[in-house]
Amino acid sequence: MGAAPFRMLLVCAALAAHGAAIAQGAGPFPEPSDTRLRAGRTVWLGTCRDCHGNSMSDAPTVKNTKDWQPRLARGRTALYASALGGRKGAGGTEMPARGGNANLTDDQVRAAVDYMVWLVEPRKEMQ
Ligand code: HEC
Repeated sequence: MGAAPFRMLLVCAALAAHGAAIAQGAGPFPEPSDTRLRAGRTVWLGTCRDCHGNSMSDAPTVKNTKDWQPRLARGRTALYASALGGRKGAGGTEMPARGGNANLTDDQVRAAVDYMVWLVEPRKEMQ
């Protein structure tokens, strides 16, 4: 046959092109100039994007600024606590502790939160 492997190849090529765009700072997840936010972005792309970067999971996506407003209003400390320790939402949604990546340090998780907040509200970067 050979059609299936060929299709896989196309998917891989598309993903590789997508990855290249992100590495250059283009695409939907821009690269900030701030060093800490850049470190947060690396963590975020590796662990958090799977759920927060698209609408395929029930996590609040970075595009859904409306969903983020009440969360942002609770303050950065509350968001750190949710990211570090996990959070169960009212509708049965669940944020796993450290995004399920136990290898991340507390500071890496906090930096990833900072990057996500920056994505949601870029002008509040310096808060
Ligand atoms: C397996 C999917 C998944 C991954 C991976 C994930 N999250 Fe989440 N996250 C969720 C879900 C679902 C919610 C919504 C929970 C709720 O309803 O409050 C959430 C909510 C959040 C919130 C808002 C919490 C609040 O108090 O309102 C923050 C901040 C957050 N995630 C940060 C992160 C960071 C940082 C990472 C990567 C280290 C990450 N998430 C990885 C699923 C995920």
